[in-house]
Amino acid sequence: MIIEPRMRGFICVTSHPDGCAQSVRNQIEYVQSKGEIDGPKKVLVIGASTGFGLASRIAAAFGSDAATIGVFFEKPPVEGKPGSPGWYNSAAFEAEAYQAGLYAKSVNGDAFSNEIKRQTLDLIKADLGQVDLVIYSLASPVRLHPVTGVLHRSVLKPIGATYTNKTVDFHTGVVTDISIAPCQDDDIANTVAVMGGEDWAMWIDALKAENLLAPGVKTVAYSYIGPSLTEAVYRKGTIGRAKDHLEASAFSISDSLKSIDGQALVSVNKALVTQASSAIPVIPLYISLLYKIMKEKGIHEGCIEQIQRLYQDRLYTGEAIPTDDKGRIRIDDWEMRDDVQEQVAALWQQATTESLAEIGDLEGYRKDFLNLFGFDFAGVDYKADSDEMIDIPSIS
Ligand code: NAD
Ligand code: NA
Repeated sequence: MIIEPRMRGFICVTSHPDGCAQSVRNQIEYVQSKGEIDGPKKVLVIGASTGFGLASRIAAAFGSDAATIGVFFEKPPVEGKPGSPGWYNSAAFEAEAYQAGLYAKSVNGDAFSNEIKRQTLDLIKADLGQVDLVIYSLASPVRLHPVTGVLHRSVLKPIGATYTNKTVDFHTGVVTDISIAPCQDDDIANTVAVMGGEDWAMWIDALKAENLLAPGVKTVAYSYIGPSLTEAVYRKGTIGRAKDHLEASAFSISDSLKSIDGQALVSVNKALVTQASSAIPVIPLYISLLYKIMKEKGIHEGCIEQIQRLYQDRLYTGEAIPTDDKGRIRIDDWEMRDDVQEQVAALWQQATTESLAEIGDLEGYRKDFLNLFGFDFAGVDYKADSDEMIDIPSIS
C-alpha cells in the first residue's frame, strides 16, 4: 500500500516501514562512523523500540558488537493498517543485526507485567546466560501494577498552583498562552508509580535473583531536568516527582548490586522530539527554540548522537564515570550551557505566531516529528507501494 502521514491531534496514526528502516540504517551508520566502543557485550534494553531506548540498542550492537534483547510494547500491522513505528524499527534493527552476525531477539508486551519479565528472564537464561548492561528507557502513560492490580495513570501537571505560559501547536505554528491547573491529590503518587523507579528496581531484583546479571553489571535509566522556563510543568511538576523517585532508586539499586560489583546510574538526557515529549505542553516551543540555537552553535544532537556519546565519553572510558553532585551522568551538558540557555530565554520573550518561523526551528521540529513515524527521510520513495505486513523475525 501507499502510506501517508495521518495526524490525529498530537500523534500520527500511520507509520512507514521503509522510512523506519531508513531511520535505523542512518543511526547504525552514525554509530559506525564514530568507531568502536570498548562497551557492553550482552545487553537488555527495556523500551528498546523508539527514542533513546532504540538508540541505546543500536549503539550497543553496532558500536561494540553486543548481543541485544529488546523489550517494548508495539502494535503489529494488520492487512491495510500499518503497525506502530517501534514495530518497524525493531524489524529493521533485527534484520540489520543478523546481517552483521549479531544476536538480537525481542519481546513485545507490557514490561510492567510479571509475564513479560518472566519471558525475558527465560530468554536471557537460555541464550545469553547473563547481561552486562541493562538500559531502562520506558515512557508510558499507564502502568498496571503487577502486585496490587491498580491501573495507575501519569499526568503532566504543575503542583500547587496554576501554571501559565506560552505554547505552540507545532502542526500549525500558532503560539498561544496555555494555563494548566494544578494536580489533584492522587496525581503525584500515580505519576510516580508509572514513571518512577519502582519497576526498574523490580526488573533488577528479578534479574539478580536468578543470577542473570554479570559481575560489574551496569544499569542506566534516563531522566530530564531542563530550564527554569519549563520547571513548573516538568521538573517541579508531577513528572519531576517521578524523576526524583527514579534518581533516588539508582542509589538503592546500586546498594543491591554491591555484592556483584554492579552499579545503577541515571543519565540526564537532552530535550528531543519523541512521541513522549511532543505530548507535553510548552515543551515543543522550548524545543523549537533550543534546536535553533544548538544548530547555530553546531552542538545539536539527536537520540543516537546522545547515546553514542553516553557510551563513549561517559560509561565506557575505562575511568570512573563522571557525575554531577547528585550522582547523575549529564549528557544534557550542551543543552544546559549558560550561553545556550540565555539565548533560548531571550527568544522565548519574543516568540509569537508571527516570529516563531524566523526565530525558532519549527521546520526542524516538524521534520523530527515526521521522522518518528518513518516519514520525510531522504532516500525513501514515498510514492511507491510498500509492504506494511513486515514481521519482527524473532517474534513471528
Ligand atoms: P519513547 O516514547 O520514544 O520510547 C518509549 C519506549 O517504551 C518504547 O520502546 C515503547 O515501546 C516502550 N514502552 C512504553 N510502554 C511500555 C510498556 N508498558 N511495556 C513495554 N514497553 C513499553 O520515549 P523516549 O523519549 O525515548 O523516553 C525514554 C526515556 O527517556 C524516558 O524515561 C524519558 O523520560 C527519558 N527522556 C526523554 C527525553 C526527551 O526529550 N524525549 C529527554 C530526557 C529523558
Ligand atoms: Na526509549
